[in-house]
Amino acid sequence: MSSLGGRRVLLVVSGGIAAYKSVMLVRLLRRAGARVDVVMTSSAERMVGVATFEALTGRPVFTDLWTEPLAHIELGREADLAVVAPATANILARMAHGLADDMATSTLLAAACPILVCPAMNLRMWANPATRENMRTLRSNGVHVVGPEEGELAEGEEGPGRMSEPDDIFQVAARLLVGKSGLAGRKVVVTAGPTLAPLDPVRFVGNRSSGRMGIALAMAAWTRGAEVTLIAGPTSVQPPHGPKVVRVETSEDMGRALETELDDASVLIMAAAVSDFVVDHPSETKIKKAGAEGLELRLEPGPDLLAETRKQRASRGILTLGFALETDDPIGNAMKKLSAKGLDLIAVNEAGRPDRGVDAETNQVTLIDSEGVVVEFPLMQKTEVAERLLDHLEERLS
Ligand SMILES: Cc1cc2nc3c(=O)[nH]c(=O)nc-3n(C[C@H](O)[C@H](O)[C@H](O)COP(=O)(O)O)c2cc1C
Repeated sequence: MSSLGGRRVLLVVSGGIAAYKSVMLVRLLRRAGARVDVVMTSSAERMVGVATFEALTGRPVFTDLWTEPLAHIELGREADLAVVAPATANILARMAHGLADDMATSTLLAAACPILVCPAMNLRMWANPATRENMRTLRSNGVHVVGPEEGELAEGEEGPGRMSEPDDIFQVAARLLVGKSGLAGRKVVVTAGPTLAPLDPVRFVGNRSSGRMGIALAMAAWTRGAEVTLIAGPTSVQPPHGPKVVRVETSEDMGRALETELDDASVLIMAAAVSDFVVDHPSETKIKKAGAEGLELRLEPGPDLLAETRKQRASRGILTLGFALETDDPIGNAMKKLSAKGLDLIAVNEAGRPDRGVDAETNQVTLIDSEGVVVEFPLMQKTEVAERLLDHLEERLS
């Protein structure tokens, strides 16, 4: 999770049934180090208790314009970002028309910071021409929007209107809060997860990569303002909200996706566990068990995506971070790979230990730079490793 230490978030909770999800959003913001001030409309107070938000933020919740007469001016002046979650059809209408008839709308009208709204309502309220027009006005006034998503609504109907999940809102908020970085506006391509080598139409040779490291890197780069494309093999980890996601299965698919995506890229991060071996002549029909006694598989080396992209990377000056997963002499082998594959940086992690490398939630990485710098990071969450690696990439870019 990115660090939002010192950032101030104003969370406006309006009276939608999704108000309970905003409790989780507060937890995510607080865990990342942000200070959160909550303002609730009177309808929101009927959905979730003030005490819940007070306990989670450790700060008073504001509901009434008259309790602290200047709070509506100060809160919006001090905040780095205002998030309206859930944003009812009613509050969106009031915001679009510049109303300031309660604590929530007065604070939003006086806010000097960017505003992010997270609409949540019944599908017909969302489709209503009045709401469409209000959304157009808000967008043209520079208000940021996340959601709504399609899915099951509180009343049992299906359609667009669900508030985005707290994790997704958090990521968008973090991107707005982190603001400009060395990666802002640059295209970063990240590969993640395993690739599969088909044996027949239903079976494959694969590996244990979960995609967590690549996904963490894609999210961290996106939060820093980069345009991110994540090229992901089959992973059980949910692809993130924000980056463009290109799904692939085989290393050949990944190679084709890379060729297209690298065209306008500034940075390439190769965190995928690309199959080193593919099956020689996979069967076009399902191999039958009967008569398969003594069946032998012939493997041959798979495509070398770092070699295949080398010319394109060099001609476009794409800063490239590769990964090496090693069991013996990790540093020595990684140094060889760094120069053999024309990489700018290589992150070495060890295979065969449950707390690091493929499939783990944590990782211990040593970063080697083509300029000779070697940095050994401690064992950390992969999200934290991603932040440290991006700090180095940004340094190289500058
Ligand atoms: C149980 C219940 C759930 C509601 N859920 C929503 C909702 O999800 N979205 C919405 O726009 N309005 C919803 N409403 C209607 C709003 O609460 C109503 O429009 C209210 O005036 C909103 O006020 P506010 O925007 O000041 O919070 C709901 C009402 C009730 C009684």
